[in-house]
Amino acid sequence: MHFIPEELDNYVVAHSEDEPTLLQQLNRETYQKILQPRMLSGHYQGRVLSIISKMVNPKNILEIGTYTGYSALCLAEGMQSEGELHTIDINEELVDFQRKYFDKSGYGQQIHQHLGNAIDIIPNLNINFDLVFIDADKENYSNYFHVIIDKLNPGGIILSDNVLWSGKVLDTSFKKDDTSTPALIEYNKLLKADNRVETVVLPIRDGLTITRKL
Ligand SMILES: C[S@@+](CC[C@H](N)C(=O)[O-])C[C@H]1O[C@@H](n2cnc3c(N)ncnc32)[C@H](O)[C@@H]1O
Repeated sequence: MHFIPEELDNYVVAHSEDEPTLLQQLNRETYQKILQPRMLSGHYQGRVLSIISKMVNPKNILEIGTYTGYSALCLAEGMQSEGELHTIDINEELVDFQRKYFDKSGYGQQIHQHLGNAIDIIPNLNINFDLVFIDADKENYSNYFHVIIDKLNPGGIILSDNVLWSGKVLDTSFKKDDTSTPALIEYNKLLKADNRVETVVLPIRDGLTITRKL
């Protein structure tokens, strides 16, 4: 997905941080062995997540949608030395793959994997978070916001991925069986309207929203 001309996009990537070696390996192995590898955040968005996490310097991070662990490792780069990252995914086939890379990264002890439906798991996490990354089923983005907001510390940040959905959020004539597009349209409206937070949508990759709790 290119929101700017490809040549300029390449220039942006070339003048941003390089992809760390371990993440290059994770990226390659995901493309070789795992279904739907395009779900992985990838080099450029990964560096965006990393630098935001370093600016926030969170103690506790929550990620919804681990997939192969790429974005978790990017977010972990900014975590406090005693910090912890909780990451949730519903696909049990990914657990060993994730763990292999978490342990290789040096953050292995600080990263906790949760297997199951995020909407059931989050209410049972008795933790306040400084940084949350929402990157799972689009139909539940608004529900995730509602269960997270009271667990987010003041000044805490929610990052939401895919909020422009390849531009489909502009489309008012989406197909009947498309449940993701209307859910994202509602989610974007919800973040804009909720006076507990301030929100900026960034046209990065498939759209990344930064939401800060007041
Ligand atoms: C786009 S991928 C996450 C990509 C990852 N954050 C990254 O950037 O590398 C979405 C993931 O959400 C998971 N998922 C979908 N629905 C879920 C649910 N209800 N609860 C937990 N995980 C879910 C999928 O199994 C998939 O691995």
